[in-house]
Amino acid sequence: MIGFVDATAVTWALLAAAIGTLGYWAWSKLQPKYRKYNIPPFPIKRTFLLGHLPAWVKSDDLDNIKKFREKAGDIFSLDLAGNLVVVVSGYDAVKEVVVNRWVEAPDRSALPADYAIGESDLGILNVKGESWKKERGTMLAILRSFGRGENVLEEKIKEECDISMEEIAKFKGQPVDARHLFNAAISSVFCSVMVGKRFDHNDPHFGKIIEHFKYSLHNTPGFALNFIIDIAKHLPFDLFGFRAWMDSIFYTRTHFSVPYINEAKSRFAKGEASTSYVVSYLEKMRQEVAKKSRSALNEENLHATIRTLFGAGTDTVSTAIYWCVLLCLHHPEIQDKVCKEISERVGQNRPVTIHDRPSLPYLEAVIRETQRYASVVSIVGREVKNNFKLNNYTIPADSLVLLNFHSVHHDAKTWGDPEKFRPERFLDAKGNLIHQEELVPFGLGRRMCPGENFAKMELFIFMSSLFQRFRFEPENSSGELPSLRGCFSIVLSPESYKVRFIERSFL
Ligand code: HEM
Repeated sequence: MIGFVDATAVTWALLAAAIGTLGYWAWSKLQPKYRKYNIPPFPIKRTFLLGHLPAWVKSDDLDNIKKFREKAGDIFSLDLAGNLVVVVSGYDAVKEVVVNRWVEAPDRSALPADYAIGESDLGILNVKGESWKKERGTMLAILRSFGRGENVLEEKIKEECDISMEEIAKFKGQPVDARHLFNAAISSVFCSVMVGKRFDHNDPHFGKIIEHFKYSLHNTPGFALNFIIDIAKHLPFDLFGFRAWMDSIFYTRTHFSVPYINEAKSRFAKGEASTSYVVSYLEKMRQEVAKKSRSALNEENLHATIRTLFGAGTDTVSTAIYWCVLLCLHHPEIQDKVCKEISERVGQNRPVTIHDRPSLPYLEAVIRETQRYASVVSIVGREVKNNFKLNNYTIPADSLVLLNFHSVHHDAKTWGDPEKFRPERFLDAKGNLIHQEELVPFGLGRRMCPGENFAKMELFIFMSSLFQRFRFEPENSSGELPSLRGCFSIVLSPESYKVRFIERSFL
């Protein structure tokens, strides 16, 4: 009897030990890897397994970041289903990561969404290493060559701008939502630079291309959903819209990049002269082949770069123009000042050119203040390659750092009255432009925007032409003004609004 009790007790003890060991093993596996480090604080308690994912998915990414920053400060952590995301705000901390911690956090990582479309190591945006270096170097060289001498960029922008001004004049002061118009104009500049062909804004083929590029840009899976893309893409009824997003990307490839790369190739083979990004890229590919160098330049990269550039280089610029008009609706006195400056220094009888830029500091200040206030590209990411210290915290390898550029542009410590649209903050007492190092709309460090000069040229030519010819007035004579609230997706854009463009000669 005693022997039987002993045997049962031993069996139970062994079973309990086995269950305990298994339980501990499962528990330790479920513990996030970052636990062993002194990571930045969490703003709120995390839930079991999903961490902060439920709180994050619930609302706008930028609203979430603002709310969490108020609770946890400039550097805080989030656990998104076991993945550590560190959000960094304020100029000093952002600069520390992108400039001084370049070696530890050099790249934007490919996201699960990039793998889903087969572009995890293609293009320029979410790519790293040699491939990124080569693609970026090539892009900078081509854009620089277009900006020299005859200035192909200015010519193409000017052509499109003149057409857009005529289109705007046709509304004869009727209220219009100019979002689409600005976007079509900047997209057409993009096509002209990339494939050497501008499009009529009403061309249905062009309309479809823009629609799909925009869809793919604005429906890019958000930071949180990216982490569950592999599950979500198999859910019935395309619950999170991933399949529709992927379809849009393939549409732009089949109907835009493939045919225009092929056309450029056949022109190229015939030796026809043409100025376009695609032709210059093919030429550089040919030179690399001739040198027998193992080059990262290839057609697959070119496809991905075209898609990236459409995303990075059209909505950003057209949204900044859309913001500038909106902000000037709220500030008619600023419009009058710009118009006076243009009248005095350029006149009304000739178009403003890029050479007038140094003599129009107030206009330049309005553009800078728009970029600060709107912060069109508000958040960008970096993948952490090696552990590093940031303000006594450890930022572990494999975590994702989100750099909050919006916070840099809206920090009261730097700007005093950041919520006020006040171009004068960029001018000295004599009206000369002053440099403010905290104005970083194009980012900082080695991955900063390679399209900066191109974008600045577009903003200057479009805004100067608009100010020279039109006065912007609200839709209603009651004086009710549209909201200044920004809606966050890949870019931060205003809610849709209508404006009346009144020709200045009719005033
Ligand atoms: C107002 C217009 C624009 C703004 C505000 C803007 C802003 C930015 C910002 C903040 C970044 C990220 C920098 C970082 O991670 O540190 C970026 C990257 C990039 N931008 Fe722009 N951009 C604009 C226009 C353009 C244009 C016109 C082009 C192309 C012609 C372009 C191409 C790119 C590319 C390719 C990258 C990725 C660079 C890399 O990873 O090496 N952007 N941009």
